[in-house]
Amino acid sequence: MILRLKERLGKRFEEEVEFFKGWQKDKKGVGALIPTSVYAARRMASVVNPRSGLPILELGAGTGVITKAILARGIKPHQLVSVEYSRIFHDGLVQRFPNVDFRLGDAFALDEALGERKGEQFDCVISAVPLLSFPMQQRVALVEDLLARIPAGRPVIQITYGPLSPVIKMPDRYVVSHYDFVVRNIPPAQLWTYRRAV
Ligand SMILES: C[S@@+](CC[C@H](N)C(=O)[O-])C[C@H]1O[C@@H](n2cnc3c(N)ncnc32)[C@H](O)[C@@H]1O
Repeated sequence: MILRLKERLGKRFEEEVEFFKGWQKDKKGVGALIPTSVYAARRMASVVNPRSGLPILELGAGTGVITKAILARGIKPHQLVSVEYSRIFHDGLVQRFPNVDFRLGDAFALDEALGERKGEQFDCVISAVPLLSFPMQQRVALVEDLLARIPAGRPVIQITYGPLSPVIKMPDRYVVSHYDFVVRNIPPAQLWTYRRAV
């Protein structure tokens, strides 16, 4: 029991060190000092519909906390496509989840990152890309690009740390909803969803 606890804490510590190294290399691109908590990760993954038969798109997987929560929803690893910008994180993810379809690439240039899978429809998008590091115009363009890749009514879910939606409202183009406030995250996290009207 104590041994298992030590193993778990050891793994978490390794993830935090890996995360800190990534943050040191690219503070703006990583956007947080500590990996997402399992509580926030589970809330984000709760939007997945495992019965849709469609793959899931993840953006900014980092150390893979959210990746793990998505798989725990009953998604087969090959049904998860995950785009990560940092080579350090990408290589760690490939080792940790060998059957997930990781793409080293930029969420803002998705066609390129997705390659032969660029025309696919996904069930939903789960994003931890630090949107506040990018201009608003680019954030809106990203949300619209993502919404075109999932069915109307299905969500793009985004984690952020500010009090407001990181993407402005565009009622004629998409619906913005506050999904949750997760206190058990450092710092406490806000979850927002974006959907096209059905
Ligand atoms: C706040 S961290 C996410 C942390 C992750 N949830 C975890 O717990 O490890 C943001 C992640 O987004 C990635 N990222 C930043 N810009 C990106 C982009 N344009 N495309 C894809 N990933 C990006 C960073 O490399 C980092 O892994």
